Amino acid sequence: MKDTLTIAMPKGRIFVEAVDLLIKAGYDLPPEFDDSRKLILDIEQAGLRFILSKPVDVPTYVEHGVADVGIAGKDVLLEENRDIYEVLDLNISACYLAVAGLPDAKKRGVARKVATKYPRIASNYFREQGEQVEIVKLNGSIELAPLIGLADRIVDIVSTGRTLKENGLVEYAKMMPITSRLIVNPASYRLKDQLIDEMVAKLSVVIEGG
Ligand code: PRP
Repeated sequence: MKDTLTIAMPKGRIFVEAVDLLIKAGYDLPPEFDDSRKLILDIEQAGLRFILSKPVDVPTYVEHGVADVGIAGKDVLLEENRDIYEVLDLNISACYLAVAGLPDAKKRGVARKVATKYPRIASNYFREQGEQVEIVKLNGSIELAPLIGLADRIVDIVSTGRTLKENGLVEYAKMMPITSRLIVNPASYRLKDQLIDEMVAKLSVVIEGG
């Protein structure tokens, strides 16, 4: 059998943009397969097996070697801090991490409680700012926290800004830009170096051209 690369990636926006990038890079992928509910997609003619997971689990699959490569947001990579190689900025799913809160909370001074999906990133950020805060870990709908009095700040992803706006929240600080990255399992990089180098080279051409 032809050597296959197993690639972990999240469903949703990253998946759609990553598949588009892989098709442009010359991988023979069927255009309709994003509608599937399957969690493992074998695309033999492209030499790729897709594992579809939650965004936060992509680095875990790659670290454990059940996926050779993965596509994950820089936010997830910084938060998870896994033993993987980050080899390429794919420049897709661009957004940024920001501190936000209710507009009037600004007048009340420094943050005390911060709700976030990203406790590691948030702790580091506030430590660097010299602010002592309590971090409250949530798993989604972070914007709820200031609205119901759970926290006076949030640290979260902003893409269009619509979620903040529709919930009456304002941005206090932009923390860092975020894009999706290609990550690699260190052992796979030794065993399947040709396939992985080829993927990096093909994707680089599309990214540089785009
Ligand atoms: C993300 C993020 C924000 C929202 C930002 O949430 O956590 O809530 O998108 O996008 P916007 O600026 O375009 O409004 P996601 O949809 O991943 O869901 P979650 O609440 O479960 O984290």
